Amino acid sequence: GKWQGVVVDLFIIFGATGDLARNKLLPAILAYTRSCKGYIPLTVLGVGRRDLGDNGFRDFLTRHFRERGLLNNICRRFLREFVYYVGLGSGGPNDYRGLSKRVMEIEQGLGLSGNRVIYLALPPKTIPDVVEELVAAGVSRGSGWTRIVLEKPFGYDLSSSETLDALLHNYFKEDQIYRIDHYLGKETVQNLLFFRFSNVVFESLWNRDWIDNIQITVSEEIGVGSRAAYYDEIGALRDMVQNHLIQILTLVAMEMPTTFDAPSVRYEKVKVLRSIQPILPEDVVFGQYRGYTDEPGIPKDSKCETYSALKLEISNLRWQGVPFFLRTGKRLKRRVTRVDVVFRCTPRALFKPFDACSLRSNLLTITLQPDEGFDLFFDVKMPGQPIRLETQRLSFRYEEAFGELPDPYGTLIGDILAGDQTLFVSADEVRDSWRLFTPILEARPKVFPYEPGSNGPIEADELLSRFGRSWAGS
Ligand code: BG6
Repeated sequence: GKWQGVVVDLFIIFGATGDLARNKLLPAILAYTRSCKGYIPLTVLGVGRRDLGDNGFRDFLTRHFRERGLLNNICRRFLREFVYYVGLGSGGPNDYRGLSKRVMEIEQGLGLSGNRVIYLALPPKTIPDVVEELVAAGVSRGSGWTRIVLEKPFGYDLSSSETLDALLHNYFKEDQIYRIDHYLGKETVQNLLFFRFSNVVFESLWNRDWIDNIQITVSEEIGVGSRAAYYDEIGALRDMVQNHLIQILTLVAMEMPTTFDAPSVRYEKVKVLRSIQPILPEDVVFGQYRGYTDEPGIPKDSKCETYSALKLEISNLRWQGVPFFLRTGKRLKRRVTRVDVVFRCTPRALFKPFDACSLRSNLLTITLQPDEGFDLFFDVKMPGQPIRLETQRLSFRYEEAFGELPDPYGTLIGDILAGDQTLFVSADEVRDSWRLFTPILEARPKVFPYEPGSNGPIEADELLSRFGRSWAGS
């Protein structure tokens, strides 16, 4: 029929009714298939503990997509023709054998390619058992290629991530393992490299001679929401800093790769990670928003951090002596992800006191979301007398230039199917990132309270004052 000769791969999603699958992954698959203009290159098999049949799962997704305003004709057709479900019950070997059988039936029945993506949208602690079981039952041995996708955090700390890695490498080669950090799927995050390495004007200033400090902020308005069970064991350092913020940092700080491909890009990122000096516990601030312990499912005595700020240094020729300040938190004043590159003051203040080096000028703010764009702040003379300087800006906004940006998960799904690992995290990156953060987790920094809707705990401001700096834009 219509699909003959077309390569359709099977996308097996573990945790198919969970938060991540429902809210991010499945909508992205839907958007991705839509962007393929009617040609749908994948069939979804949801796997979960709930006892739903194919139709039960389709109804579940129909309700969810309707609530989100995504339910159009393409979506209905997608759900009807390309979505299946297997309930895993208690998850014993028999259940997994049943799954394996179903996978083969679907592949044969629909004439699929035999290529399988196994996407584990699961809490980190459940992953080792699931991997063992699915491998034992043969789910990972199709007639085509198999790729396995893991969500961050990869492990829980250095030793658990090494154990997980060893387990995966028992059964999969590194080029089959896709560690997702959805920040790398964001156009604006990828653009950090393109912007740096295709414009000499900024790259020539991109070092310790001209940059005073760099700040990376990922602030969220949302709280823990319905994710208590996941979040309270994880906290902000594992949920955001160890992966998303560190990925942004490596792209901001890395050297130009020899070529633009996965091995070269990952190699340069690892070099940055290995050049970061051990982070001192006193340079880390943890916070928890007031009311967190009243959220549904959160223990009353939880010490989980919902905010984290820290200072680190990269010891190499380019960055020696330049502090990097990172911060992220939930229930803050507004949702914004940005990189502030704070340039040095002029060596001599000719127009004193008018050009008292302020934080507002000599600043490049790269906004990764929302309102994606660049703002370069600089001082100009106001017309007339007496002499006065005023900060002005040059601005660029993605939306004005390009309209809506593609969904990061959609981009990454396309890369998984195409076998391109450039935007995925390597085993080395994961290990070196945990090597940095595990001592902090073990030191258990004090957790300071902060008001919901604020900029986080005051102690994070004091952290910067200690280094004679302050947060840009505050
Ligand atoms: C996820 C974290 O990886 O990223 C969430 O687990 C967080 O806690 C989310 O809310 C933020 O992603 P985005 O794309 O909304 O910035």
